[in-house]
Amino acid sequence: MEKSNKRNSFSGSLGFVLAAAGSAVGLGNIWRFPYLAAKDGGGLFLVIYLALALTFGFTLLITEIAIGRRTKQSPLTAYGRLHPKWKKLGIVACIIPAIILPYYCAIGGWVLKYLLVFLTGGGEQAAQDGYFTGFISGTYEPILMMVIFLAMTVFVVIRGVNKGIEKTSKVLMPILIVLVIIIAVFSLTLSHTDEGGTRTGIEGLGIYVIPDMKNITVGGFLTTLLDAMGQLFFSLSVAMGIMITYGSYVHDDENLKTSVNRIEIFDTVVAFLAGVMIIPAVFTFEGAEGMAASGPGLMFITMPKVFAQMGGLGTFVGILFFAMILFAALTSAVSIMEAVVSCFMDEFHMTRKKSVGIEGAITAVVAVVVCLGYNLLYFDLTLPNGTNAQILDILDYLSNNVLMPLVAIGTCILIGWVVKPKTVIDEVEKTGCKMSRRRLYVVMVKFVAPLLLAILLLKSVGVKIF
Ligand code: ALA
Repeated sequence: MEKSNKRNSFSGSLGFVLAAAGSAVGLGNIWRFPYLAAKDGGGLFLVIYLALALTFGFTLLITEIAIGRRTKQSPLTAYGRLHPKWKKLGIVACIIPAIILPYYCAIGGWVLKYLLVFLTGGGEQAAQDGYFTGFISGTYEPILMMVIFLAMTVFVVIRGVNKGIEKTSKVLMPILIVLVIIIAVFSLTLSHTDEGGTRTGIEGLGIYVIPDMKNITVGGFLTTLLDAMGQLFFSLSVAMGIMITYGSYVHDDENLKTSVNRIEIFDTVVAFLAGVMIIPAVFTFEGAEGMAASGPGLMFITMPKVFAQMGGLGTFVGILFFAMILFAALTSAVSIMEAVVSCFMDEFHMTRKKSVGIEGAITAVVAVVVCLGYNLLYFDLTLPNGTNAQILDILDYLSNNVLMPLVAIGTCILIGWVVKPKTVIDEVEKTGCKMSRRRLYVVMVKFVAPLLLAILLLKSVGVKIF
């Protein structure tokens, strides 16, 4: 108990919301959301995503933040505080961010490299075929970039909750949102003519937001639903231990309901605007076929090609774009590292410096292995969900597709059936506010969320459901 008195906390609602939004807004918003929206029928995906964010996402987010604030513990110890028999779930919840951080830093290094390339006028070069593969399969450069990105993350986390995480989020998040808006508006003004005719950014926006109901089938609808759910998970930083950790730094008099709504709005608006930034630009210069790319392919191959076609402005827009992604990735990486660091501090009573040192060293070693996965340690593996994977993809699959749904199912069972939803509701309402969507919350946490999560998990491990 005496530990909780010394625990750091966010200085207020703004600091907490921006730090949590900083965690939520990350690579997931930028490289997967627009792709899924384009693939899954545009507006239809958006409507389903929004409906899920207000129900499923809200349930998981408020549950984790409430668990954190109630126990004043990070995930490793929080579950055990709620119920002694559930301590093991905390171990998995702590392992997840430890698995994610190395590959997140490797990708953060790629973003840094591209920002430097655009800053030094090498945008044209980055648009050449084979440039990205050439870079990531190099021996030293990806490692060097990863180390710099990791050092930036360590620099923030070691300074603690207020001076590090909160302060950085308060500076970077407003800049990020301004950059996203500038690029999104610019994207809508684009127009390009080639042998395929003239295409405009506004037409691209239409593809993004107008629901495509032509090929809608029950199977297609369920695929969209599961895609949106998987995306929400990663995007809201739930089931990664992060929101429990950040929740544990929230003052008891803070209104959790309002904060959760704001975090969700921030994350969803940035994800939506990422689509407005990317889909019209890709459509204008690369046509509908260009929108088949996602993940690294979209960010590091398609987007540089798009910038190269913008003429003189391309370098400038490229700099803004990669700076914005760097900020998004950094604030997320900080939260991922903080989740592990706080576990070490709570369980082993280590100092912050020592915890950061240990987690930083583990991350550095694993991230070097991840980088070498495209070089010395290259191999191809087909995962149970059918994708072709290197080391980075294996870690992503293990965390995102297997362990995160497992932890989320466990959390729902613990709250829904063992300690009961009242535990969370009481925590939310202890400031005197009424928890809205209360009935919905109970139904979601007990029945709907675990069921949907179980389907998601089965699909991820290759079980054919439909
Ligand atoms: N929520 C973070 C992202 O979207 C981890 O990248």
